[in-house]
Amino acid sequence: MNKILITGGAGFIGSNLCEYFLNKGNQVVCLDNFATGHRHNIAPFLENKNFTLLEGDIRNLQDCQKATEGVDYVLHQAALGSVPRSLKDPITSNEVNVTGFLNMLVAARDAKVKRFVYAASSSIYGDSQGLPKVEDVIGKPLSPYAITKYVNELYADIFSKTYGIETIGLRYFNVFGRRQDPNGAYAAVIPLFVKQFMSHESPVINGDGNFSRDFTYIDNVIQMNELAMLTKNTQAINTVYNTAYGDRTTLAQLVQLLKDNLVQFDPKIAEVEVLHGPNRAGDIPHSLASIEKAKKNLGYSPKYSIEQGIKEAVSWYWEHLK
Ligand SMILES: NC(=O)c1ccc[n+]([C@@H]2O[C@H](COP(=O)([O-])OP(=O)(O)OC[C@H]3O[C@@H](n4cnc5c(N)ncnc54)[C@H](O)[C@@H]3O)[C@@H](O)[C@H]2O)c1
Repeated sequence: MNKILITGGAGFIGSNLCEYFLNKGNQVVCLDNFATGHRHNIAPFLENKNFTLLEGDIRNLQDCQKATEGVDYVLHQAALGSVPRSLKDPITSNEVNVTGFLNMLVAARDAKVKRFVYAASSSIYGDSQGLPKVEDVIGKPLSPYAITKYVNELYADIFSKTYGIETIGLRYFNVFGRRQDPNGAYAAVIPLFVKQFMSHESPVINGDGNFSRDFTYIDNVIQMNELAMLTKNTQAINTVYNTAYGDRTTLAQLVQLLKDNLVQFDPKIAEVEVLHGPNRAGDIPHSLASIEKAKKNLGYSPKYSIEQGIKEAVSWYWEHLK
C-alpha cells in the first residue's frame, strides 16, 4: 500500500486516478483548489478512510509542502487546461502551470518522494508536421498552454539531473471518458458534443471536420500512470512518454461515432444537424502518437480503442446527464 498524492484530484483525470488507486487499497491525498474540478467528482471518496482532501492551491508553496508530507508518489495533474483559455489569459495559465508545477517539484524533492509523475501534453508537438509524433522530435509551441507544458518538461529534466528526483512526464493526447466536464467555455469536444446531441442542439465542428486527433480513453491513461509510477526499469525513468491509443480519428468520424452510440438511447438524435465553424487559433491539424516507447520501456498495452472508449463514455453520460 502506497501513499499517493494526486494533485488536481477533483478534476476529470485526477478523480479517475483517485478512484482507481483507492480501489487498489492505497492511501490517496487529493490537492485541489476546485478552479475547474468539482466536489461531486470526489464526493464518493470522502467517506473512505484512505482518502484525504486538501483544499489548496499549487501556486502556494506551503500548500504543496503540506500535501507532499509522507507521500510515496506524486501524480501531478493540477493545471489549467485548454489552449483557448491560455490565449485569453496567459498570465494565470503560466502562474498555475509553471509556477505551480515548480512549487510541486520543489515540495516533492524536499519530501523525498519516490517518483514524480506528471501530466504533460501532446501540445508540445506544436508546429512539427511529421506523423506519428515521436517523443524526441517536437516543434515550436503554438499557444501559451503549450509553452507551459514544455517548460514543465524542462524543469522535470533539470530536477532529475541536478537533484536526483525521479520524474516521468506523460504526454496526454486528447483524453476522454467518465467525469470529463461537458460544461463551461472551455469544455472538451467529446463531452460538449454529447451534451449537445442529448439536448438536440447542433454541435459545431471547428473547420471542415478533417482535422484528426488520437483520442485516448481514460482507462488507458490510468494504466500509463500506474506503469510510470511503479516501473522498476531504471532506463524508463527521467523521460517523457506519449500517452495515447496510437490511432487517429477525424472530427467528422468522431461526430458520427457519437451519433451512432447515442441513437440507441434516443433515436431522435439521428436527425440533429452538425454545423461547421472556422478553424480555431492554436489548433494543430493532425495529432497521432507513436506509443512504441511506452510499449517498450513500460510494457504499455492500451485496452480501449476509441470505439470501445466512446461506447463506455456515452453510456456514462447518458446515465449522468439525462
Ligand atoms: N484532458 C486532456 O485531454 C488533457 C490533454 C493533455 C494534458 N492534460 C493535462 O492533464 C491534467 C488534468 O487535466 P483534466 O482534463 O483532468 O483537467 P481538469 O480541469 O478536469 O482537472 C484539473 C484539476 O486541477 C485543479 N487545479 C487547477 N488549478 C489548480 C491550482 N492552482 N491548485 C490546485 N488545483 C488546481 C482543478 O480544479 C481541476 O480539478 C492537466 O495538467 C492537463 O493540462 C489533459
